[in-house]
Amino acid sequence: MKDRNIVLIGFMGTGKTAVGRRLAAILGRAFIDTDSEVERALGKPVARIFAEDGEARFRAEEAEVCRRLAGCRGLVIATGGGIVLNPENVRHLRQNGILIALTAAAEEIYRRLSCQASPASGGRRRTPKIRPLLQGDMWARIQELLRARAGAYAVADWSIDTTGRTVEDTVQAIIGYLEGKGYLDQERGNG
Ligand code: S3P
Repeated sequence: MKDRNIVLIGFMGTGKTAVGRRLAAILGRAFIDTDSEVERALGKPVARIFAEDGEARFRAEEAEVCRRLAGCRGLVIATGGGIVLNPENVRHLRQNGILIALTAAAEEIYRRLSCQASPASGGRRRTPKIRPLLQGDMWARIQELLRARAGAYAVADWSIDTTGRTVEDTVQAIIGYLEGKGYLDQERGNG
């Protein structure tokens, strides 16, 4: 029970990667990002996979990553925002994992993703993460996709609204939840 994977799900821009990385560091666990796994398998960034091979190819590889992760234990896993749209992925991630959904208000998602998309205007990423599903009018796309996916993240065992919270706040809240449920075992080490 204590070596179950901790799987972060949620819409783009809810902080899965930043929170997952920090959570893994604090718990002394290995961190896996499913987008990075897909990129490694196909040898190119997500945006190029979408452009050159199509979304279906990306989703197939994403499903393959979930199949592989179902056999792993003790990881912190940050997932791509669309991973839960495939029930098979959810089944695999759940196999050894606790699913935690990160949510955020649409305005906050827009603000975070706008910063990431343009490093010159203050974004923290050196290489901006291009999100193929948000090309064009980003604000309209965010609202449209949030509507289309309403309910998709309800598969989580627990969910936390990250609006107005720092990464550190969110991580501490998640640790509180996991401790309360007895999922952690003296793992806190590396602050
Ligand atoms: C997607 C989210 C992205 C990435 C791809 C598709 C989605 O990951 O997997 O661009 O369908 O929501 P993040 O949620 O990490 O941005």
